[in-house]
Amino acid sequence: MNHFVFITDTHYWPDAPRDYGAPKMLTRGREIHDAIPPAVNALNPEFVVHGGDFLCGGSSFDLPTETYERSIRDMRETFDRLQAPFFAIPGNHDCDAQTWKFDAFNEAFDPPEILSVDPVATDLRILRANIFLDDTKVTGSGEWTDAHDERLREADRQAIADRIPTILFLHAWLLPDAPPEPGSEGRGCVEGARRLLETVSQCPSIVAVFTGHRHVNRITAYRDFLIADTACLIGYPFGFREVTLSDDGWFSTRFHRLDVPSTMAAYRSRDDAGEDADWEGQPHDCDCDILIPRLQDLRT
Ligand SMILES: [Fe+2]
Repeated sequence: MNHFVFITDTHYWPDAPRDYGAPKMLTRGREIHDAIPPAVNALNPEFVVHGGDFLCGGSSFDLPTETYERSIRDMRETFDRLQAPFFAIPGNHDCDAQTWKFDAFNEAFDPPEILSVDPVATDLRILRANIFLDDTKVTGSGEWTDAHDERLREADRQAIADRIPTILFLHAWLLPDAPPEPGSEGRGCVEGARRLLETVSQCPSIVAVFTGHRHVNRITAYRDFLIADTACLIGYPFGFREVTLSDDGWFSTRFHRLDVPSTMAAYRSRDDAGEDADWEGQPHDCDCDILIPRLQDLRT
């Protein structure tokens, strides 16, 4: 059995001047971030993965470099308070808004160069993709390249030879939620999403793919694997996923909301908050138990 936590889109900005668009509550970053370590540690996971967008760099926010660097130090301190091993992937907002470089982020969080393979347990490997290798100003949802595809197929071949299931983590979505415009992969989808979906379909060790970026919970059974998209920490519903993979092929997830009452009350007073389900999804997207055929095949 494996038991881990997935958190994403923490978008920390010390002294943010305003909250920005719903569901974000950027001015409440300190309260939200202080609530993360105790909530995660209480679950005693084997490991924790952050899905990217730790920060408010890159586009939209125009964060000064000095504040960007301070936010990296604050974030590192927050995640150093986790008791379990911690793994990161970058999001589009993790680069310096002034230079579009990830150097300071990379130094603090050791993200994958292209695709890393981490043996998190004797019976599970995680594959972490860095889809922001090119100009993030141009490809804000990242790019799935030939190099990514080759590394993923090689990791899969090895995992199948060893009969060990894998989980892929990348920041942006790979499954559109509406028919894409001509020439587009779909809103919030990585460039090359259709190709990636095809590759994952052909890589039988990959039992699930985890993403963030769109700040929406959504669980999709696709062919014989799962795609788990997760809402943001910095905004409603202020939560993260606890995930269990059983020895007989079951995936279980529970969505945990942080205990941040004053932030929640402030969010409720926003007039652009929208419907709760716009962000938290349907009940099934928060909590569910699903048998994954690929996991069952590899474990029984
Ligand atoms: Fe993002």
